[in-house]
Amino acid sequence: MRIGRTLPPAAAPITFKDIFSGLKGICNGQTEIKRFESELTRHFKVSHSFLVSSGKAALTIILKSLHEQHPERNEVIIPAFTCYSVPSAILKAGLEIRLCDINPDTLDFDFDQLENEISRPCVLAVIPTHLFGMPADIGRIRNITTAKKVWIVEDAAQAMGGESNHQKLGTLGDVGFFSLGRGKALSTVEGGIILTNNPGLADRIARQMADLPEYSRLETLKLLIYAVILNIFMRPAWFWFPKALPFLKLGETLFEPDFSIQKLCAFQAGLSRGWEKRLKQITLDRQKAVRNWADLMSRCPSEKMQNIHLACQAKLRFPLKVTDAAALAGILAVSEQNGLGLMRAYPDSVNHIPQIRDRFRNMTFPKASAIAGQVLTLPVHHFMKAADIRKIKQILTPFFQKENKCLP
Ligand SMILES: Cc1ncc(COP(=O)(O)O)c(C=O)c1O
Repeated sequence: MRIGRTLPPAAAPITFKDIFSGLKGICNGQTEIKRFESELTRHFKVSHSFLVSSGKAALTIILKSLHEQHPERNEVIIPAFTCYSVPSAILKAGLEIRLCDINPDTLDFDFDQLENEISRPCVLAVIPTHLFGMPADIGRIRNITTAKKVWIVEDAAQAMGGESNHQKLGTLGDVGFFSLGRGKALSTVEGGIILTNNPGLADRIARQMADLPEYSRLETLKLLIYAVILNIFMRPAWFWFPKALPFLKLGETLFEPDFSIQKLCAFQAGLSRGWEKRLKQITLDRQKAVRNWADLMSRCPSEKMQNIHLACQAKLRFPLKVTDAAALAGILAVSEQNGLGLMRAYPDSVNHIPQIRDRFRNMTFPKASAIAGQVLTLPVHHFMKAADIRKIKQILTPFFQKENKCLP
């Protein structure tokens, strides 16, 4: 067990000032929730926003609302390499998961395969995903879906604050959602946001929302305690402690199809106070870190370690493709010993998740399966100091040197 400065792989700040705002939020009740909703609709220039207890809750509500409108269609297309919460939300909504392989250079869909998949008559929706905050090509999906009347549900869980061609991510699909979980761009401990400009869909979502339970007092108290814990233990000085507790399962990717769906509570809405200013600063900090890693990668081109996406977006983590399995294992081991927050992404493609793999018998998604074993992510959050960056460069240096004698 390592004791000492340890960087979390991703972290969103929750300060004591935010927690104090959360407590004021409890006193304000519904007014606080309405305030957050109206700030979101104004900021993202959409007509409707809804607040729920998680990103997967948001996706489930969206899919249920779409299915209500088109009960004859029940398939949802997702990238075969994505967060395991996405297939769990599709199952929770009572729908079928349809996988599409990915382009390993962008982690976006393999568009040739997507065109075939979208032609299926049962397809209700397609979920382009801005993985690590890297913009998926929604314009290209729009071109394919227009004639087919398939809904575009934009998974912007990891992309709040990001833009593509000066348009805000989360507003490019027919409906979009963000996650407010820990480790996202903005966090209210847990939470999800739905955005749409479609009035018919908004009506259906509003009806679903009306039936959702509220957080109980005890649950709100748990959120408050968790916010304090996050405030203390996400700091590099203390992160070694929760990381050493195996029952917290930090860093593990879990498939959990059974989750609760609730309305976001006033405490969480209160935590969000001042979010526009904070998100702007967080995004700028991340862009700076991304530029730093992208610069390192471009100065030391390596066959075995490649940049996945060239654009300097405000990524949530900086993904690299490491094609040499021994090098990847070596880098991760050194990072672990030194508490530097380098991490793999999801351990396998969605078709290999043990609980659902029988659904994909006889189907393969070779590019998604291969990339799952190759992605290494570097932290980009505000807790990183110049000394951490130097140490991470030192870890990566021997791997560059071995190959082309280039020193970062
Ligand atoms: C791409 C993606 N989609 C959906 C989700 C689900 O969000 P939440 O954890 O808030 O349920 C996540 C969460 O990490 C995610 O990364």
